Amino acid sequence: MRDQRAAPARAEGSGDATTAADRQSGDTTDDDVARAATAVVDDRPPAVSGFDYVDGELHAEDVPLAAVAGEFGTPCYVYSQALLTSAYRTYDAAFDGIPHLVCYAMKANPTLAILDLFARLGSGFDIVSGGELARVIAAGGDCRKVVFSGVGKSDAEMEAALAAGILCFNVESASELEHLAAVAARTGLRAPISFRVNPDVDPLTHPYIATGLKDSKFGVALDDAHALYRRAAQMPSIVVRGIDMHIGSQITELAPYREAASRMLALVDALAAEGIALDHVDLGGGLGIRYRDEVPVTLAAYATMVRGLFEGRRERLLFEPGRRLVGDAGVLLTRVRVVKAGASRNFAVVDAAMNDLLRPSLYDAWHAIDPVRPREGDAARHFDVVGPICESGDFLALDRKLAIAEDDLLAIRTAGAYAMAMSSNYNARPRACEVLVDGASVHLIRRRETIAELHAHEIRLPTQPR
Ligand code: LLP
Repeated sequence: MRDQRAAPARAEGSGDATTAADRQSGDTTDDDVARAATAVVDDRPPAVSGFDYVDGELHAEDVPLAAVAGEFGTPCYVYSQALLTSAYRTYDAAFDGIPHLVCYAMKANPTLAILDLFARLGSGFDIVSGGELARVIAAGGDCRKVVFSGVGKSDAEMEAALAAGILCFNVESASELEHLAAVAARTGLRAPISFRVNPDVDPLTHPYIATGLKDSKFGVALDDAHALYRRAAQMPSIVVRGIDMHIGSQITELAPYREAASRMLALVDALAAEGIALDHVDLGGGLGIRYRDEVPVTLAAYATMVRGLFEGRRERLLFEPGRRLVGDAGVLLTRVRVVKAGASRNFAVVDAAMNDLLRPSLYDAWHAIDPVRPREGDAARHFDVVGPICESGDFLALDRKLAIAEDDLLAIRTAGAYAMAMSSNYNARPRACEVLVDGASVHLIRRRETIAELHAHEIRLPTQPR
């Protein structure tokens, strides 16, 4: 029989003055237990099995993770098609009955098979580069459902997106408007645009992923937007379509959305009063998920708030969720290579590293780590789970209580978003493979890189006469 989704009470970082090690610690205090007991649960449908223990072994849907590791090796990203599908459907269904389009922010996980799956479910895409546009096309996505965000689009990227017939450019500066108008005029096409406005609202998240503050590099200031719309409305090669915001990522509060959207709607009304009517309002992405003990905003609450704000309005709604659609749907499967006792800490050196999963090193992010076959009865010890890379910052988790030995398999949870997407070849490490599980079927969706492929783009110096 299936166990419940493993959700042990996870301790919260204990405040600003803590060290990275403190914040990463898996120890649970009485306070934490009390907080966890009063926490509101989120609304992910419990019926969907993704990564559960069956007979003492962690599975991806119906497939034991040990079998995946046996066939494809480690490190390996494993995704659950059921979880991906249910995350998309839940988001989309929350806005049933009102005109809307979900545009998956593919930067979170741009693997072709994942895009293909979302395209089949009807999703549009939020892209930020010509490379991402090419991926949408390669995956069979519909370019008429693509919005193009980003502060530094090149002329070539603009041309490609115009030729592909995308739904909208999310313009992020006055300069970009002028460039885009010129590129469109040159190609004889009209560019559909929104301005990404910067509502100057604090999304209450990690500073690296807050994007809607006054000093952020993103978007145009709300105060400047009105004049920009007037200018755009007069440009023959520009079609004004909508307005856009994206205030940050891993947001766990509703209030910043409400505040930012209200500010934006006041501008929409002011524009309408002078004859600039917008077809759509894009509320961006940013809804957080639970890595540890965060209490994510439920989609029901988010949708109720949005429905309230948009009651009686005519604009179509666009959304750009990334993490919320893929974050829960993946694990990074890794094997313990070396168990090592340091002077004051124990290390579990695993075969995944910061080049595979950068979030812990870059953002102090906390990912749950579960043994694939828990060792019942063995004493647990505290470990730093680290990779083989030559950097002290190469850790995946600090100070976790684990009962493990060399060769054990571990699953690093909540690794569907900004994980493989941010991987690199640092230390000349080939990037991991990716596997999608659908019930009892296992699909290799990206094979592991070979060492030869790592050299493939490089050119040695010409032979020098001695
Ligand atoms: N729209 C735009 C314009 C964005 O820049 C982003 C994310 C999204 C939508 C999707 O946001 P989401 O729904 O996934 O929160 N690497 C960081 C996250 C960076 C987010 C960048 N922009 C991390 O690992 O937490």
